[in-house]
Amino acid sequence: MSNSVAIRPARNLAGSLRLPGDKSISHRYAMLAGLARGATRLENFASGADCASTLACMEALGCAVTREAGSPDGLRVVKIEGMGSRLQAPTALLDCGNSGSTMRMLAGILAGQDFSVELTGDASLSRRPMARILHPLRAMGAEVTAEQDRPPLRIRGGRLRAIDYTLPVASAQVKSCLMFAGLLAEGETCIAEPTPTRDHGELALRAFGAQVEAAGQNRWRIRGGQTLHPIDAQIPGDLSTAAFFLAGAALFPGSNLVFDHLLLNPTRAALLDVLRVLGLQITVLHVEERHGELVGAIQARYGELRGVRIQGAQSAALIDELPVLAAIAPYTAEGIEIGDAAELRVKESDRIAAVAANLRAMGAQVEERADGLRVPGNQQLHGAEIQAFDDHRIAMAFAVAALRAKGESHIVGAEAARISFPEFYRTLETLVQR
Ligand code: S3P
Repeated sequence: MSNSVAIRPARNLAGSLRLPGDKSISHRYAMLAGLARGATRLENFASGADCASTLACMEALGCAVTREAGSPDGLRVVKIEGMGSRLQAPTALLDCGNSGSTMRMLAGILAGQDFSVELTGDASLSRRPMARILHPLRAMGAEVTAEQDRPPLRIRGGRLRAIDYTLPVASAQVKSCLMFAGLLAEGETCIAEPTPTRDHGELALRAFGAQVEAAGQNRWRIRGGQTLHPIDAQIPGDLSTAAFFLAGAALFPGSNLVFDHLLLNPTRAALLDVLRVLGLQITVLHVEERHGELVGAIQARYGELRGVRIQGAQSAALIDELPVLAAIAPYTAEGIEIGDAAELRVKESDRIAAVAANLRAMGAQVEERADGLRVPGNQQLHGAEIQAFDDHRIAMAFAVAALRAKGESHIVGAEAARISFPEFYRTLETLVQR
């Protein structure tokens, strides 16, 4: 059943917070923990349903998973008993829920296993394109089938051969899928990407003891047959979740937020650059490295919002943050223009259409394009009924936009936020001052 959450206008956002672990890293650590020999302990594991789908799949593949109530400082702890490179055949379908990351990255691991398996997902995942992993996995020798290149996927795994492959679309999920397959293949796999995408797969493989080498610009090499060792790690807070609060802080004079233990990986931090260009004052208070990932504390204070044009490699680097940037664009002085972001149309929803529909519902002018949007600045929005379109990032992006609208808004299907951040509305309420 669909829930509706009411969002009332705010005066500003203030407070300090530590967010649940990054979703991209949690997925990868959970999968690689399964391939390591021994017990991996992950503190501050992501709290959303997507990473729970990955854990459930790893359990179904024979890895014992224990979820502890929390460490003394309240961080969620997950222990995964790895099986080494050979997982167990599951006795039923593997349900990936809403999670494209689970399906695409796990497919790389399953392609190298000695059994057959079927991966399914919910209605949204069942619409998402899989050709991007099917072609290279088949080139490596896996038998993978999917009707019209959409889930469910049927994989008959086995011996894989290394490939030298250039991704046609910039996708970190596909890059990680092929690196995981490369780890299980015979020979040395080379993967190149058209523009840089998040490097958590490379960093996670190294953290678990594998060698992944740079082999030129945006090109990587991984040798098959390397063994992984378990790790004990604390996962940094999710920067794509922080994006909603940062965007909210950008809307109100007097806003002041401090994030502690936040992921600051440079391949994800384009968000901070764009928010700075827009006018938000961001100060890095502290940075350190953990398992190859940069982690730190930042402070964000209001600054008058100008405008920005996002295109090319920057659109790929900001792909998950574009909905919230577009949602706050009417409140900027000069507006925001987004191009080269056609990938937004094949996310959990068609995020270009969803953003345009909700902005219009709030009374904004917006130009929808095939590969992006142009949202003029200097517009006042009114409260409205917002549709989440079963998409967590759309629900949260418009909860933020609604904070500065005139009158109350209702987010229909607000529960979609549970996919990445179930605590979202509660956390927002603790930060909002009225
Ligand atoms: C992710 C990569 C991106 C992103 C998704 C998470 C990842 O998807 O949108 O939320 O963890 O690798 P694509 O690889 O399809 O661009």
